[in-house]
Amino acid sequence: MPNSIEPSEIPSSQPAVPVEVSIGYSSLATGWKRWRRHLRCMISAYLPEIAVNAFKYSPQQTARANWDAEYAGGHWDYLRGSSEIARYGIIASFCHCYSRGGALLDHGCGEGILRRHLNLDIFSHYVGVDLSLDAVARADRNHGGERTRFLVGNVEHYEPEQKYDVIVFNEMLYYLEDPESVLRRYRDHLNPNGVFVVSMFDMIKARKVWQMLDRNNRLVESSRAVNQGGHSWTIRVYQQA
Ligand SMILES: C[S@@+](CC[C@H](N)C(=O)[O-])C[C@H]1O[C@@H](n2cnc3c(N)ncnc32)[C@H](O)[C@@H]1O
Repeated sequence: MPNSIEPSEIPSSQPAVPVEVSIGYSSLATGWKRWRRHLRCMISAYLPEIAVNAFKYSPQQTARANWDAEYAGGHWDYLRGSSEIARYGIIASFCHCYSRGGALLDHGCGEGILRRHLNLDIFSHYVGVDLSLDAVARADRNHGGERTRFLVGNVEHYEPEQKYDVIVFNEMLYYLEDPESVLRRYRDHLNPNGVFVVSMFDMIKARKVWQMLDRNNRLVESSRAVNQGGHSWTIRVYQQA
């Protein structure tokens, strides 16, 4: 059911009232979804560490077919909107700061939105890897080109052909069974003084992942992006411990 219907599209045989009711319901549902996300951010931000410890980590959805279906169905289209810009802006700024003219690997690159925010003049090249065929096809279509490659791959098994100065995990670690061991494996693929740039939506699952990462990596920088709806993301930069 679309969110809005032009009056001319309502069939004359159908009374207008049920249509209005369904529009009202759909905007209520959207409003509730936004509030639920806001609430998750608030709880995650203010829950004391001791309470976070009580939760057991389990990943969000993992199957490739789910991702392909969601990209094809437009579920992730909102990532292109202005409500996500603060997050991409901070991630891109950290990437620029630590690039040192080197190469960047973007894990879980999706349809390549971060690539759009990067100034490639200060990188030797960019590689984006994602599990979803659909997302990578879009990324290649919209952002592929000089010094940019998009590949279909699973971050848990992918073997980079070279070392990188910046490796990004942008809104993807909490989809993995064991995020810390994945990060540990990629340490061998960082150049000396290379960094991991990690972004996660603020929720308890993410707090669990931050606990694991903070324990085993050297935290260099941490920042937070908040949008007008009160949704927030934490973005951190790590070097090898
Ligand atoms: C929430 S989306 C974020 C996309 C992108 N980083 C962004 O912020 O625009 C998460 C992405 O992680 C990818 N992903 C999930 N598990 C993955 C895995 N094991 N290996 C590679 N990519 C994965 C999904 O296909 C999806 O594109």
